[in-house]
Amino acid sequence: MRIMQELDQYFTSLFRELEPKTLYEPIEYTLTQSGKRLRPQMVFHVVEMFDGDLSQASHVAAAFEMLHNFTLIHDDIMDEAPIRRGVPTVYKQWSTNRAILSGDALAIMAFQQLLKLQVPARTILNISKVFSDCTLEICEGQQYDMDFEMQEEVTIAEYLRMIYLKTAVMFAGCLKSGAILAGADEQSQEALYNVGINLGIAFQLSDDLLDVYADEHVFGKSVGSDIRDNKKTFLYLKALEQASADDKATLKHCFQTSDMDFERKFNTITAIYEKLQIAEKTQSEIHVYLQKSQEALQKVQVSAEKKAVLMQYIANLEKRSK
Ligand code: IPE
Ligand code: IPE
Ligand code: MG
Ligand code: MG
Ligand code: MG
Repeated sequence: MRIMQELDQYFTSLFRELEPKTLYEPIEYTLTQSGKRLRPQMVFHVVEMFDGDLSQASHVAAAFEMLHNFTLIHDDIMDEAPIRRGVPTVYKQWSTNRAILSGDALAIMAFQQLLKLQVPARTILNISKVFSDCTLEICEGQQYDMDFEMQEEVTIAEYLRMIYLKTAVMFAGCLKSGAILAGADEQSQEALYNVGINLGIAFQLSDDLLDVYADEHVFGKSVGSDIRDNKKTFLYLKALEQASADDKATLKHCFQTSDMDFERKFNTITAIYEKLQIAEKTQSEIHVYLQKSQEALQKVQVSAEKKAVLMQYIANLEKRSK
């Protein structure tokens, strides 16, 4: 899409004049990496679906991509992640202090993108509501994610609520904002929100799966980090649910001791995952949510032909490798 190239150029040009460089350099570094740009693509697909104005959509697309990158800069501090997109994370490349402040600045710049919209004030207000609601929900989800590292008992329902907040609401927000911008009817706006929620849940499930099984060079993030951080992922919780008493005790022990060698911890846990076919079970859960996403898309009030691009976009996430 040409509009995606324009977005790249926009991010490259944005920082030329800005000072101090020490504040903006980490932001530019992050925004000009090989991110998949999934969220702006979603904004554009919806706006195209309703024959909306793509040049206005680019402000909304930029806003969500910037918000997303802000969450990653802070997430990497919280998760102590060394690499992202195959290169050092911001706090590793510079310092935690720089990552905090550059992240803050990027979040504010994201909100400023919405003020560039040249559409009726009511539309800007409605999009701002979606945007700020989802930002706060991401903070809530991220806090649950951190709390769950220490919390011994976490249910799959609690996990799903956590990923709904930390990941799915942004996907939903992208689709709904695009629909608002393009003047879609309310039923379609809500249907698209649900498309995004189910897609986002599938996306986080596959992120959890890839965190254990991806090819690190393709994935661009260090494999095994969720196990190292005692993250209560779907894989771990599903294994706990299905394990024998002995394996359950082993899983819990691995997640409670801080002095266990990483290799040993990873191998012990993945051996149990393999025994219980956790990867396959996660993959079928991903499939269920992608189907729900496609079903929600049926409720959108445009022709099947207009939906084809978004339908394909959803289907493509089934084979995600990065
Ligand atoms: C990573 O999102 C954060 C999650 C929600 C799992 P992406 O995988 O979309 O990140 P980039 O932008 O493509 O690197
Ligand atoms: C991502 O969760 C959620 C947000 C960044 C809000 P993860 O912590 O799993 O994301 P990655 O794997 O670091 O990209
Ligand atoms: Mg992380
Ligand atoms: Mg995280
Ligand atoms: Mg992850």
